[in-house]
Amino acid sequence: MHLSNLKTMYRTHTCGELRLDHKGQQVTLSGWVQRIRDLGAVIFVDLRDRYGITQLAFYDDNPDLMQQARHLGREFVIQAQGQVVERESKNPKLPTGDIEIRVDKLRILNASKVPPFTIEDQTDGGEEIRARFRYLDIRRNPLKNNLIFRSQVTQAVRNYLTEQGFIDIETPYLIKSTPEGARDFVVPSRLHPGQFYALPQSPQTFKQLLMVAGMDKYMQIVKCFRDEDLRADRQPEFTQIDCEMSFVEQEDILRTFEGLLQHLLKQFHGIEPQAFPRMSYAEAMERYGSDKPDIRFGMKLGDITSLVKDKDFKVFAANEYTAGIAVPGAAGYSRKQIDEITKWVQRPQVGAKGLVWVKYNEDGSFKSSVDKFFGEDDFRLWSEKTNARPGDLMLILSGPKDATQKQLGVLRMEMANRLGLRKPDEFAPLWVTDFPLLEWDEETGRYHAMHHPFTSPKPEDIHLLDTDPGRVRANAYDLVLNGNEIGGGSIRIHDRDLQKKMFRLLGFSDEEAQRQFGFLMNAFEYGAPPHGGIALGLDRLVAILAGEESIRDFIAFPKNNAGRDVMIDAPDRISDEQLKELHLKLDLDDED
Ligand code: AMO
Repeated sequence: MHLSNLKTMYRTHTCGELRLDHKGQQVTLSGWVQRIRDLGAVIFVDLRDRYGITQLAFYDDNPDLMQQARHLGREFVIQAQGQVVERESKNPKLPTGDIEIRVDKLRILNASKVPPFTIEDQTDGGEEIRARFRYLDIRRNPLKNNLIFRSQVTQAVRNYLTEQGFIDIETPYLIKSTPEGARDFVVPSRLHPGQFYALPQSPQTFKQLLMVAGMDKYMQIVKCFRDEDLRADRQPEFTQIDCEMSFVEQEDILRTFEGLLQHLLKQFHGIEPQAFPRMSYAEAMERYGSDKPDIRFGMKLGDITSLVKDKDFKVFAANEYTAGIAVPGAAGYSRKQIDEITKWVQRPQVGAKGLVWVKYNEDGSFKSSVDKFFGEDDFRLWSEKTNARPGDLMLILSGPKDATQKQLGVLRMEMANRLGLRKPDEFAPLWVTDFPLLEWDEETGRYHAMHHPFTSPKPEDIHLLDTDPGRVRANAYDLVLNGNEIGGGSIRIHDRDLQKKMFRLLGFSDEEAQRQFGFLMNAFEYGAPPHGGIALGLDRLVAILAGEESIRDFIAFPKNNAGRDVMIDAPDRISDEQLKELHLKLDLDDED
């Protein structure tokens, strides 16, 4: 950064800038007091700003000034003028550690209350208190650096896409419902009693309209809003890198966005990954039990259904599917450890009925929880399917195919986490393609669009729409990085009749479809080009590029697990007048 940009009426340099080269110069710095050490004959003050820390020194040859320094407290905002001098005892840990400022003029710009936690890399503040004082937490390096990193990634994304000819277009936030699968946040209208705007779950319909409008390559780094249960990788408002292109097929989109991620991996980690592997949804489920597989490690699912179908063990024989994973080096696990894993897979969040284990001992022998029913020959075959080696522990689940694959997928990730196999500085991107177009929902007894209702079926599967819709595959793809879905998109339906058919399959009557999406279907009557796109989750992308998975620490002001902003205390009630103006009447059972 250019010094000239930072030089202001308050400072000549930043607190991260001065070196031995500046020795002898008269400088002015402004910042926050991080630490004060009063040694009697000298007082040292660590002065902090966004750029770093510089040591200020007050000596007893200037008693007035020293007295003034004694009145400073942590987090006071001050301005200090003085000469850059070489330190007697240097601090090699600080970039400015060779020098200090021998202060000759001190000005307190603002006092500060004692902060509720120490504002240093290692803090004594718990999560709750830091969330309430987020602006103080951001003064600390960890959060500050995350936000700077996010800004750099965003900039790099924008540069890349601009270079590729994308143009940035803003779409509205006050819209009507977009069907991305979550609940909408809604905004009551004052001017139209009883009517509501919805906040966009994504700009999906607008970006498609922009393609009809001929804008060809659209991009927007945009807030999206989804009222869904929160997790470490989910926030109710989050940011997408949203894109759409005209006259493209799936291959064009994959190539463009593979290029984007390659560009980012090169810029931020100096790695140049080869062409990203591609895996069909079916293969991902079969091998990894997940549609967002972490392929940095093995532990692939081994299907042993056919090996156990005709045996005496009733549980396996009766179930649709039995498969296992080989946990490397875990044959030595104690009974207690295995019991704990069994309990873990039986938790409702995972939902397995039970767990069968087989130890493949170092000496080549086997020991298992089903020794009564199976022998060494069986175990050897199982070990071939799961790729188990001597020293490994096979963990086996059995049940309905889809559910059991998912449970094994979750178990696989858990064991990898426990064994430290998910290395944060290793990056393994891949495309998952050929998602099913529709997903059967037991609860409503209807099909849901797996991606969204505008996603085009694979042309070769269109004939199945009338006969076997559950088997139709979509022209949809996800970008996966280290076991996280960082992006998803599809080639869209640009034909009005096919779109109509999709809505019918999804259980919309023609009237409902017209009311909700008439604007889009009407637009399709005026020459919609073939088009498709993708949206990447910026928060997730940034977190993973930084080697982490929780997105909260990469958002300046995030919501907590309960969807609250505890700093500003939102959501909150509104006044009776506001309610009245908005034509809203509350009917709350209990006052909370
Ligand atoms: P999708 O719903 O897959 O696609 O969203 C795209 C990407 O956004 C991120 N994401 C989230 N990040 C944080 N918190 C959330 N609550 C959250 N929800 C989603 C994920 C996801 O991959 N309109 C389509 C895109 C398209 O078809 O072009 C869409 O929104 O990383």
